[in-house]
Amino acid sequence: MTILSPASKTSDGKRRHRTTVTAPMQDPFGRHISYLRVSVTDRCDFRCVYCMSEHMTFLPKKELLSLEELDRLCSVFIAKGVRTLRITGGEPLVRKNIMALFEGLGRHLKSGALEELTLTTNGSQLPKYAQQLRDAGVERINISLDTLKPDLFKAITRWGEFGDVMAGIEAAEKAGLKIKINAVALKGVNEHEIEDLIRFAHGRGADLTLIETMPLGDIDGDRTDQYLPLSIVRARLMDTFTMTDNPYRTGGPARYVTVEETGGRLGFITPLTHNFCESCNRVRLTCTGTLFMCLGQEDAADLRAPLRASADDADVSRAIDAAILRKPKGHDFIIDRRSAKPAVGRHMSVTGG
Ligand code: GTP
Ligand code: 5AD
Ligand code: SF4
Repeated sequence: MTILSPASKTSDGKRRHRTTVTAPMQDPFGRHISYLRVSVTDRCDFRCVYCMSEHMTFLPKKELLSLEELDRLCSVFIAKGVRTLRITGGEPLVRKNIMALFEGLGRHLKSGALEELTLTTNGSQLPKYAQQLRDAGVERINISLDTLKPDLFKAITRWGEFGDVMAGIEAAEKAGLKIKINAVALKGVNEHEIEDLIRFAHGRGADLTLIETMPLGDIDGDRTDQYLPLSIVRARLMDTFTMTDNPYRTGGPARYVTVEETGGRLGFITPLTHNFCESCNRVRLTCTGTLFMCLGQEDAADLRAPLRASADDADVSRAIDAAILRKPKGHDFIIDRRSAKPAVGRHMSVTGG
């Protein structure tokens, strides 16, 4: 069935594009695509060692979609059945005037077309933006924090300031945002701090999710040195904590346990030790309008050309349908000494995880 949504007007009086609401998207493996991650910039104010090299070449600004174009593309996806929109980067909050995008997309929450508008951030800009995000309808955010030691934080993020992120977490709490802390488990770096991170997050009423480092893009070091399988972390944690499987799901890849001693939730994202691709519900849009159907594969579809070719959304809608039909079964991540090259050449900051 096809339903035409009414063409509405923006706050500055311009007409919005008319979009066509169609049946939810389905890939060749029967997976429903209901979750879109949008990387609004590949830039970041940090240079995390597992994510970027210190001297990165970023996209020229003229390549970027405007915020209006990003809004239009997101709206087409929402009309096609996307219920969760996660804004990512790079660091999404360093994109100029980013609040205008959140404020605009908030209308889809109000209409009920979108269930969740959220973001993943390094936290550094939250003192400035936490309240505005909450006001735009964001309820839950993911903040990356790999250590509680300021010196180690500097070593991991290279350019980050621990105090800024702590102030960001406080600002998010004050604004009433629910927080999930993401920590990438790194061998010989934060592996003996996981218990402290659990107590820190759970002590503040936040979830904590541990992530296995994934081989995306060239970094300055060797990933084999960083990779810490979460199966090992989990076994170690069992010496200290009682962990009970928790059926809680966000629609994301994390599988959760309840830590009985703290009462908090602990998630594990295990692309390497336990593949979760069979339940994948997501695709990824970059700030240049390229759609990646899988985080761990190179195949992509250009949506910028059809977007710019016509004021009607039909072309871009067709391009999305064609892309979803090419969504691969899963990634081929592997980290070992024999595979010197990363699984995919682009950095995590291009697709935002
Ligand atoms: P919620 O479950 O909604 O809280 O979000 P999330 O965990 O999916 O998103 P977040 O941005 O916090 O990402 C956490 C980590 O999960 C990042 O390292 C992402 O790269 C990774 N991740 C998210 N989705 C996928 C996926 O489909 N495949 C793989 N391999 N990793 C993913
Ligand atoms: N492997 C796993 N996680 C990564 N992140 C960034 N690069 C990688 C990588 N190579 C994490 C960040 C953030 C999330 C978006 O992805 O720490 O929490
Ligand atoms: Fe920036 Fe996030 Fe990459 Fe760190 S992991 S450099 S905070 S995009």
